[in-house]
Amino acid sequence: MTLQEEITRRRTFAIISHPDAGKTTLTEKLLLFGGAIHVAGAVKSNKIKKGATSDFMEIERQRGISVATSVMGFEYRDVKINILDTPGHEDFAEDTYRTLTAVDSVIIVIDGAKGVETQTRKLMNVCRMRRTPVMVFINKLDRPCKDPFDLLDEVEKELQIRVRPLAFPISNGTTFKGVYNLYERNLSLFTSDERQTADAERVEIRDLASRQLDDCVTERYARQLREDVELVEGVYDPFDREAYLRGELAPVFFGSAINNFGVRELLDCFVRIAPSPGSSPTLTRSVEPAEERMTGFVFKIHANMDPNHRDRIAFLKICSGRFERNHNYLHVRSGKLMKFSSPTAFMAEKKSVIDEAYPGDIVGLHDTGNFKIGDTFTEGEPLKFTGIPSFAPEQFRYIENADPLKFKQLAKGVDQLMDEGVAQLFTSALNGRKIIGTVGALQFEVIQYRLEHEYNAACRWEPISIYKACWIESDNEAQLADFKRRKHTNMAVDKHGRDVFLADTSYSLALAQENFKEIRFHFTSEF
Ligand code: G4P
Repeated sequence: MTLQEEITRRRTFAIISHPDAGKTTLTEKLLLFGGAIHVAGAVKSNKIKKGATSDFMEIERQRGISVATSVMGFEYRDVKINILDTPGHEDFAEDTYRTLTAVDSVIIVIDGAKGVETQTRKLMNVCRMRRTPVMVFINKLDRPCKDPFDLLDEVEKELQIRVRPLAFPISNGTTFKGVYNLYERNLSLFTSDERQTADAERVEIRDLASRQLDDCVTERYARQLREDVELVEGVYDPFDREAYLRGELAPVFFGSAINNFGVRELLDCFVRIAPSPGSSPTLTRSVEPAEERMTGFVFKIHANMDPNHRDRIAFLKICSGRFERNHNYLHVRSGKLMKFSSPTAFMAEKKSVIDEAYPGDIVGLHDTGNFKIGDTFTEGEPLKFTGIPSFAPEQFRYIENADPLKFKQLAKGVDQLMDEGVAQLFTSALNGRKIIGTVGALQFEVIQYRLEHEYNAACRWEPISIYKACWIESDNEAQLADFKRRKHTNMAVDKHGRDVFLADTSYSLALAQENFKEIRFHFTSEF
């Protein structure tokens, strides 16, 4: 197969949702269709189970599972699909944000009873920022759900994206009859016992006015469906793939992941319309996937489970060319040539050594502590991929050394954990103290535990009251200097020495933005 053919047949995406909406279940059903797994229950949930949030061993165990299921590759109808898993627990949201920098599209799962929830909203903000094409799967139709039109309105309003239903449900809960596929004009009838791979019974219905529909779903629901479809066609413009690819329009599907219902419709449409790998921006130019020379970037680093080995796995997203085992690649940041004798690819439950990989694929590289998030590999060109930012943390604590004899170990451990993207380190301008900022509170426990077990260092946390950290810059140097002087007690620098404003409250942030009009406040590290 040519490089171009390999690119065209690849789809790399992530499934995102608020915890419990059904992400794990949907992932599993997709893998069943792809033949990557053969029984339900094979995909272990990558979420920290409720009630186990302070159990370190559980965190470690879960982290181990999440390595195994970090990337799940499978083939479906000659399409190579790479699903990038994202941690369900919201305290690991930054991990999810970064995974979103490596995908070409996203499927959002929404619980039909609950509608759009906070975590979905936050993740959608990242998709919007990157103009990632999104598809929506409204799940759990076998349970009592909100009205489908209300759900569509809610998605449109809450996620700030135009929607276009491509399927429409007939009732829900105990009277759930099935889903009418609007673009293929057929009806899938729901029976709640198809828990495995069996397909739903499908009935071709070219004409909604036909008696056949009444026979399938009863007169009452047939009438309802005719009205609903008429309304859909009246209210929504025809599906526009270009608008979807620009990230402006989300096709919406309805179904029940646990019952394997509506999943094939979603997958069939996905392989047809979802984008294959596109161009990737760098500081100097845009890289096209079909370029001969291999390029890629590290979007995630995962520490080894075994505390005796500090080895890590770096996840490399291939952006162009053909990646080959035992080939020399330039690690741009260090200027060193490196080759990898055992790069790995990931399937549902196992990883295996691969000889080559293509744009859109994710390769696991063995790392002994040399790599950082955002590192670029090329065949010689000093490129630096952009669009892999750190996100403004929302939880902060001072970190103190709890064992004076282990100062070096602590410094090294903190340094490496920051490279892994576990959290961000700031240095206060006021007193030089080190502040750790994270997206979720659980990260502090993870850091403390890992410092102890992997680096033999001990830390202590002290509270600090900060609402949000944001990076600041301005073309007006006088105003910037004035701001930094006045806000001296709230200023810090990040690990690259850039100015960061630590706002006490949302009010003080709003006030600062109001009073210092020429200062730009950034909520991601890349601007
Ligand atoms: P997540 O990864 O998004 O957090 O969600 P997950 O797939 O783990 O699903 C959360 C819960 O919702 C699970 O139940 C799952 O069985 C259930 N679920 C998923 N899809 C459907 C659906 O279409 N209909 C219904 N009724 N339930 C669905 P649980 O009791 O929390 O876990 P489990 O014991 O079943 O694993």
